[in-house]
Amino acid sequence: MPSTTPAALYGLIGNTPLIEVTRLDTGPCQLFLKLESQNPGGSIKDRIGLSIIEAAERDGRLKPGGTIIEATAGNTGLGLALVGRIKGYRVVLVVPDKMATEKVLHLKALGAEIHLTRSDVGKGHPEYYQDMAARIAADTPGAFFADQFNNPANPLAHETTTGPELWQQSGQKLDAIVVGVGSSGTLSGLSRYFERANPDLEFVLADPRGSILAEYIDTGKVSETSGSWAVEGIGEDFIPSIADFSRVKKAYTIPDQESFDSARELLRAEGILAGSSTGTLLAAALKYCREQTTPKRVATFVCDTGTRYLSKLYNDGWMVDQGLIQRPRTGDLRDLIGRRHDAGEVVNVSPTDTLMVAFNRMRAADLAQLPVLDDNRLVGIIDESDLLLKVGGNADAFAGQVGGTMTSRLETLQPGDSLQALRSTLDRGLTAVVADGSRFYGLITRYDLLNHLRRTLS
Ligand SMILES: Cc1ncc(COP(=O)(O)O)c(C=O)c1O
Repeated sequence: MPSTTPAALYGLIGNTPLIEVTRLDTGPCQLFLKLESQNPGGSIKDRIGLSIIEAAERDGRLKPGGTIIEATAGNTGLGLALVGRIKGYRVVLVVPDKMATEKVLHLKALGAEIHLTRSDVGKGHPEYYQDMAARIAADTPGAFFADQFNNPANPLAHETTTGPELWQQSGQKLDAIVVGVGSSGTLSGLSRYFERANPDLEFVLADPRGSILAEYIDTGKVSETSGSWAVEGIGEDFIPSIADFSRVKKAYTIPDQESFDSARELLRAEGILAGSSTGTLLAAALKYCREQTTPKRVATFVCDTGTRYLSKLYNDGWMVDQGLIQRPRTGDLRDLIGRRHDAGEVVNVSPTDTLMVAFNRMRAADLAQLPVLDDNRLVGIIDESDLLLKVGGNADAFAGQVGGTMTSRLETLQPGDSLQALRSTLDRGLTAVVADGSRFYGLITRYDLLNHLRRTLS
């Protein structure tokens, strides 16, 4: 077990609970979930944060006043920043830009320094997150590059903590473990532990569609081309040097849709708020369990907490934007509306609300304009420039009413109008309001139009 200082928060890392899935169909099997979301930093990566830092302290690569540098999809950064900041180190992290805002905000609040980089470039590109971290490490005096993808302290954390915990908590009765692979530390460390503890135990890979790993397990071939996927933290476009796939007996490729649906189902059925990768693992685990012909005891992980994905996986608007929730199509401009009024998704104000209320709603929802509705009828639009004009240097004006400030001469688009008509409205700097008589459907923003164009291209 890692050495810990009882008084420090990182002494609480590990020893996470194991619970049984009771309300999902697990076929003839029992399925257990190890709640890594209960670690103090909220993910399985707290374990390696502690293990990597303490190994580097022991062998002198990290000295008092030193800087920890890492390329991370977020969770490893949170683990390193949690332990590293408590221990007084500077922490510098290179994070790909597809990562959830919550993770980045959490990291900054912990005092980590963040370099955001592109998530659409691969190994060898100067902006690839791992290459960029290696470069920053080489240029920073007193730097320690945590390098989870090549650092043996990563799998060691799972060999010495996650593995023994699972074995003991399952009453030494476990037939299979379903894992996801990012750096492969979890799989490699558990493989090493169970090689001794229970050599018959099967490993099952849960891999997002687009990653090359499942194909590698099935065919032994390393594909030159990878796709893209929305699940965070697992799936790869190369084989990590510390990877040990020798005990993996089966691999499942899970599309984003199934991963996101499974994570949401886990919350509804079992009350567990998990991240998107847990959805991938759960979907694969349920498939594996249902395919068995004899009862087996199977474990998988709730890899991280869903609180850091509230703006994505648990946000219907984001899910719609990504095409992960499909609305019934109407084949007209209504399909482009990001937030539909009839679905209760539109933030609005009434003409009798104050400008302060309008401003607060814009701020809270991160919107630049709001429709003004009177008894469900669209009567105007209020935007940031209306507010600025009215308020100017006079803060008292915030007490004024929306009705006296809004734009009420609206040029509306009918659902059946053309994309060209929409473009012309947006190009003239107007707000695109979709309405049919007094029936208001929603606004189409430039972002919505871009999103529509992206969807029709892909
Ligand atoms: C968010 C997240 N990060 C990382 C991992 C595992 O990664 P690694 O292979 O780096 O141990 C998982 C899942 O198993 C995960 O869900």
